[in-house]
Amino acid sequence: MQPVTDLISEAYAVLDANDRMDYTQPAAELYPHQWLWDSCFIAIGLRHRNIQRAQQEVLSLLRGQWHNGMLPNIIFSDEDRYERDRNLWRSQVSPLSPTGVSTTGITQPPLLAEAIVRIGELLKPDDRREWYKRVYPALLKYHSWLYRERDPHKEGLVLLIHPWEVGMDNTPPWMAELQDHQLSWWIRSIKQVHGDKLIDLFRRDTRKVPLKERFDTIEVLALFDIERRLRRKNYDIERILDHSMFAIEDVAFNSILVRNNTLLAQIAKSIKEKLPGDLEESMKQSSSAFEQLWDQENGSYYSRDFITHRLLKQPSISSMLALYSGAVPPDRAKVLLKSLAAQAQYASRYPIPTVPLNSEWFRADNYWQGPSWVNINWLIIDGLKRYGFLKEAAKIRELTLNMITNQGCYEYFNPVDGTGIGTPNFSWTAALGIDLMLNPIAVSSNHP
Ligand code: GLC
Repeated sequence: MQPVTDLISEAYAVLDANDRMDYTQPAAELYPHQWLWDSCFIAIGLRHRNIQRAQQEVLSLLRGQWHNGMLPNIIFSDEDRYERDRNLWRSQVSPLSPTGVSTTGITQPPLLAEAIVRIGELLKPDDRREWYKRVYPALLKYHSWLYRERDPHKEGLVLLIHPWEVGMDNTPPWMAELQDHQLSWWIRSIKQVHGDKLIDLFRRDTRKVPLKERFDTIEVLALFDIERRLRRKNYDIERILDHSMFAIEDVAFNSILVRNNTLLAQIAKSIKEKLPGDLEESMKQSSSAFEQLWDQENGSYYSRDFITHRLLKQPSISSMLALYSGAVPPDRAKVLLKSLAAQAQYASRYPIPTVPLNSEWFRADNYWQGPSWVNINWLIIDGLKRYGFLKEAAKIRELTLNMITNQGCYEYFNPVDGTGIGTPNFSWTAALGIDLMLNPIAVSSNHP
């Protein structure tokens, strides 16, 4: 691909090409439906050109909301050719699924409040209040659902039941759990007779992107197997947890939740709404419960097994997302900053690698096991800014923009040589590229 001469117009062209009128596809062909966290990031970019269109992106997400408050990670396109995708999940098996749309039965990182506030920032005060009032009931219902269903022991940390929920599908801590405990007998048999090589031929993603840049097929089969088991229980969390397969309190997801709780509280305050007492209680508990994920020995936060409370110590970028939560005490934030600045770990030439360079899991071109992703950089930049680490935030911003300018709006980038990999014309890279470009960071007042 040609280097991008005008990043903003190139990025808007990507968003226009992926525009489906009321929502934006993450990438045409490869990801044809509406995804939850993608649309939040996309709205953050779209707001700079057309605020109504950005609002529409968020409102479209709400049509997928389940009666219990869950926002699904995917709302399926109703085109005939995607019947197979809709049938795989069959959301109608649950009486709680929304009417008139097909969705999955799981969620994705809760960035809705972030998208709502970023849109609100660009509205006049009256319009902003009107906007907040319009979306507040659905937002409140979503956060209440997260605690009610996903924090059954009232610990202040919410659990996830599928790696797709964290949005970093093959991130090492989850893959290690999968390999150790979760492979069904039939997947183990396929592995033994190398049947996965045959199945490779039928994969849709690897028709668009080389196999070495994606999951291996055994892992894909395992993910669909978990999905099938969730569907068989009609996505009923009590039945799922009763016979739990995977239940992980993910550090990245909980970091995002904690920050978005703060934004939810700001929204409520500005429209003079009072948050329900039990939700407020859970939100408070979350900020302190977060400390239980800290591991003094390695100077890092980790995800945790819901049942045993064992920390999952495979290093990954999820640990660094604690900076976005705002819940980390400043001395711990400095420890994380050291890892970000260490050349053996996260300070690659084209940061930020999703797995540290010195980890045995690191693979420069494999999906969430090494490549740098623009959405993760955006979240960490935002966290660093709020801690006052402006110099570091400015550097990551500049290097992120360089990657996009040199290569185009790729899905992810090789953190060592900066090559764009995954699918080209990826929407959140475009949207967040625009947002980073339009928000320079002044470093003169750096007081960490
Ligand atoms: C991949 C990513 C996920 C994203 C989706 C659509 O599955 O891992 O985070 O939401 O694609 O872009």
